[in-house]
Amino acid sequence: MVKRNRNIARLRAAYLFPEIARLRREFAGLHPNAKIISMGVGNTTEPILHHIVAGLTEGARRLGRAETYSGYADEGLAELRERISSVYYKNAFGIDEIFISDGSKCDIGRLQTLFGPDVNVAVQDPSYPVYVDGSVVVGAAGSDGGASQSAGYSGVSYLPCTPENNYFPDLSKIKNDSVIYFCSPNNPTGATADRHQLSALVDAALRTGSIIVYDAAYSDYIRNPALPRTIYEIPDADKCAIEVNSFSKSAGFTGVRLGWSVVPKDLYFAGGESVNADWSRLTATIFNGASNIAQYGGLAALDGEGQSEIREMTDFYLENAGLIRGALKALKITCAGGDNSPYIWAHFPGRASWDVFAELLEKHYIVTTPGSGFGPAGESFIRFSAFGSRAGIEEACERLTKG
Ligand SMILES: Cc1ncc(COP(=O)(O)O)c(C=O)c1O
Repeated sequence: MVKRNRNIARLRAAYLFPEIARLRREFAGLHPNAKIISMGVGNTTEPILHHIVAGLTEGARRLGRAETYSGYADEGLAELRERISSVYYKNAFGIDEIFISDGSKCDIGRLQTLFGPDVNVAVQDPSYPVYVDGSVVVGAAGSDGGASQSAGYSGVSYLPCTPENNYFPDLSKIKNDSVIYFCSPNNPTGATADRHQLSALVDAALRTGSIIVYDAAYSDYIRNPALPRTIYEIPDADKCAIEVNSFSKSAGFTGVRLGWSVVPKDLYFAGGESVNADWSRLTATIFNGASNIAQYGGLAALDGEGQSEIREMTDFYLENAGLIRGALKALKITCAGGDNSPYIWAHFPGRASWDVFAELLEKHYIVTTPGSGFGPAGESFIRFSAFGSRAGIEEACERLTKG
């Protein structure tokens, strides 16, 4: 018989979001008349706006004509890569440094295959689950763990991000030769790193011979013009950082699937090998490119009209976030995020996250995400997501404030 991959056995028994969905189903079964409102998951809810839909439609139409039909596009349409470089990076990167993906989570998984098992791993704690879980799958998280582990994996340096350190970690805890996963604006805390903090992060990576995987999936939510929108605003970041990004949360492409990764040519492994060349080789081996229909949608999202639609869509969710922050403030619950991010991180000192989750579900019929599911430092926190209809968010806020 084929043996089970021992690294899969080391994963925690349940992935956070399916577990929340299971509890929601269970509650709905017991209370069939309860009108449950979800503020739990990071899934977009609003329809894609018309100019970007027209781009997607054009992508489909092109496939139906001999003159415009296209097949595999490997690293992605050159025009899309050029536009990404121009819109997000002031043309600092050539198209051979920008790789189109079917989403940033998928690329994070492939990056973990690229780095393999023999690296140290550092993550913000709490963090988006794929950084740790994907590291476990490729054997980079140490040999312990499994269903019973709660303190974390021995091969992972957890860098607590708490109200005490203003959600920016102590970088002196990063071991040499680490892959550092860093997300800003952050999921789940909503904190967004400033220029000074990101400069310290880049310095720490260069000092320790580490590579940052910078997850900028929420960069289009940044409204404060003083905050960097990409790690490459920091000098020398191209010598120590890969950036992953996505159309999911900006253009509503969670179900369309389109993203990109920037892998600079100035990035090298310890032995002097080019990271860009290995990434090219790896993606050609295990990935056949993003959908060309999605890529035409991406092209539309990056022209003037598309950018206005992205602004409109992200403004809408940020307004939802403002309503949630307002309701929590009225209840004197301390929270972070929600200003440059769609997530609000609410603190319930002295209480277990899963207990607060259960109370919000039972008392208000509201589904949230328990902070402890994102890592040990998430205990006593709840993540509220601003992805939802306006009516649903307003009703949830009313339920919360009216007790
Ligand atoms: C921080 C972060 N990165 C990446 C992703 C995944 O994005 P994509 O849809 O591009 O795979 C998410 C989705 O929730 C996220 O929160």
